[in-house]
Amino acid sequence: MWKSYDDLNVLKGVSFELAQRDVKVIFGPSGSGKSTLLRCINMLEPPDKGEVYLSGQNLMESKANINALRAKIGMVFQHFNLFSHLKAIDNVSIGLRRVKKLPKEEARERALEALQRVRLAEWADHYPAELSGGQQQRVGIARALVMEPDVILFDEPTSALDPELIGEVLQVMLDLAKAGTTMVVVTHELGFARAVSSEMLYLDGGVIVERGTPEHFFTAPKSERVRRFLNQISILYGGHEKLLELSKKEKNE
Ligand SMILES: Nc1ncnc2c1ncn2[C@@H]1O[C@H](COP(=O)(O)OP(=O)(O)OP(=O)(O)O)[C@@H](O)[C@H]1O
Ligand SMILES: [Mg+2]
Repeated sequence: MWKSYDDLNVLKGVSFELAQRDVKVIFGPSGSGKSTLLRCINMLEPPDKGEVYLSGQNLMESKANINALRAKIGMVFQHFNLFSHLKAIDNVSIGLRRVKKLPKEEARERALEALQRVRLAEWADHYPAELSGGQQQRVGIARALVMEPDVILFDEPTSALDPELIGEVLQVMLDLAKAGTTMVVVTHELGFARAVSSEMLYLDGGVIVERGTPEHFFTAPKSERVRRFLNQISILYGGHEKLLELSKKEKNE
């Protein structure tokens, strides 16, 4: 797909497929178009040219019911984007009430189940300001989950968090991946990528410069740019320690 803002060509022919249960990790330098790509997938910013298919339906078709289709694509943001005036449970249930028109009690029940999946059931009646960043992000994940989407898009879900809160969010994402959730995750958390991603895409300058399995990227990346970038982020994000931690956990389970 292609996307420009005025003279700035942000996406210059990015194309990939997603199968059920895939966990695709997108990474690359700031400004490379990662967030734009996610916003184009769920039509928050329709691409200028290209196609987005969801279970065989083209979201670009003018007669597509874009709201119904968008409800099948969950989104988790870097800065959580919770409603500050709503309790955790209401942040999670509001989509069920407004979009799926579920009755209050049923919406509440399902929202509680979603909060349980992110280990926050006992925080249901707290407001975002009473929750840590990690807890707020887990509410954000529950809000996406509760809609039972076909795919969830994550845009750097841990990059606004203090280091000690990153692990609890990654753990929830790891649980989702293992439960077979289809996910597209923009992240520089290499440990997460290594533990669960089916394919990693390195985006730079609006194109996919290199793609492959985590194994490929961690052992034999082809391009020098990718190698340099991986080195940088493993220093910045402490990729190696977390990577080991997560893969140790994997083995013990
Ligand atoms: N709504 C917009 N209007 C104009 N330019 C935009 C808009 N959104 C993004 N851009 C520009 O498009 C380019 C890609 O932005 P994008 O946010 O997709 O990058 P990114 O890879 O997500 O970066 P980061 O790692 O910093 O989040 C940037 O140069 C940005 O300034
Ligand atoms: Mg971004």
